[in-house]
Amino acid sequence: MNEKLTSMRNSIEKFLRARYPWDSFKDFAAHQAQKPLPPHVSWWHTFGSLALFLLANQIVTGLLLMAYYRPTSDHAFESIRFIQTEVPAGWLIRGLHAWGAALMICMLILHMIRVFVMGGYKKPRELTWVTGVLLLGVTVTFGFTGYLLPWNQLSYWATTVGTEVARAVPFVGNDIALMLRGGEGVSGETLGRFYVLHVAVLPWAIVGLVSIHLFLMRLQNLATLERVGEEQDIPPHHAVPFFPEHVLKELSVFTVFLGFLLALVIFSPPELGEPADPFNTPVGIKPEWYFLSTYQMLKYFPKTIGIFTSMIPPLILVLLPFIDRSLERHPKRRPLAMTLGALALVGALALGIVGKISETHIRFFGKPYEVDLYGRWTPEEGSAPAADTTVSRAENRTGSAP
Ligand code: HEM
Repeated sequence: MNEKLTSMRNSIEKFLRARYPWDSFKDFAAHQAQKPLPPHVSWWHTFGSLALFLLANQIVTGLLLMAYYRPTSDHAFESIRFIQTEVPAGWLIRGLHAWGAALMICMLILHMIRVFVMGGYKKPRELTWVTGVLLLGVTVTFGFTGYLLPWNQLSYWATTVGTEVARAVPFVGNDIALMLRGGEGVSGETLGRFYVLHVAVLPWAIVGLVSIHLFLMRLQNLATLERVGEEQDIPPHHAVPFFPEHVLKELSVFTVFLGFLLALVIFSPPELGEPADPFNTPVGIKPEWYFLSTYQMLKYFPKTIGIFTSMIPPLILVLLPFIDRSLERHPKRRPLAMTLGALALVGALALGIVGKISETHIRFFGKPYEVDLYGRWTPEEGSAPAADTTVSRAENRTGSAP
């Protein structure tokens, strides 16, 4: 058997060598596998590959879902219900896709924080960072367009609110909203457009950007913690071999993470809620968690000022390597950058939490409070209805995807 396999392999190699620079390909692959990584490379450096793993999960499960999903306002909800309840393992595939999307965004945020803390965005890796920020934007757009596809009450009204924001852009706002929706309101036309973006446009964008991102990362290798311009060659006895050391580390993280993902799907499957009803607006509709901080921030500003203010954080993120030009990479020698980064993170988290609890009734140390649009708490007379304690009424009525 072994001999047969070896002779088959030799024949394939002979065939390829006669037609292509086969030995150059082999040398290239061997060089990539043996590339030494800096000594500080650790488990923190597996977030990027976990994002890649989740991207693969999204592609595979997304293709399987496409076999049964129907992107029309008459059939979308029913086709998801069919996938969830009738198709063999359909619940698993849908669960992996829905939870995978949420976890991929978490992973990108963790990866970005890791790169920020270790100064990996500094010269000469500015463009790796810029492609990374674009990847985050594309991933979030995947989330936004995918959210509408089940065509339930929550997704319908969250998209109505989300696309309404575009109207605040001066002069062209109405045209942008019209283009996104394909009409005055969210309709089957919008569903068709979001579906095309989700399955035909964004996949090309993400695959292209990931290829550039990984190519740049491999070309320049991972950053060390030395000052910019003072990097020494990695001494062979200190280097971490990419293969097998780092690859095995990545594989073990993938295995544990797959278990975690499966547990989420089994113990907390994404709900479907009620079909979209354009004539019945639920109370306290909320966007997905990764839009909550922007959504809350927009409430504190007049519309047009709000839209421009909400563009500042992504702009700072893209331009970060060109704004922060200090030569230090080690976090201990960058106290200002670390403090500002931590403040930005805490601010975004706080806004997100206020966004989540705004327009709900909550209980705090046993006492009921009503939280208004801006996050102000007012003690309630008597006790609030049990169903309204932690989540918005709209979510209770319609169910929420992760
Ligand atoms: C689908 C999205 C992404 C994938 C698949 C991905 C993948 C990776 C991988 C595998 C690495 C090497 C290992 C590691 O550092 O974890 C890496 C490095 C890097 N990534 Fe990403 N990444 C993505 C998004 C991002 C984002 C959102 C940012 C930042 C905004 C970013 C910035 C960087 C930078 C600057 C490096 C080089 C870091 C260094 O040299 O220390 N990436 N990426």
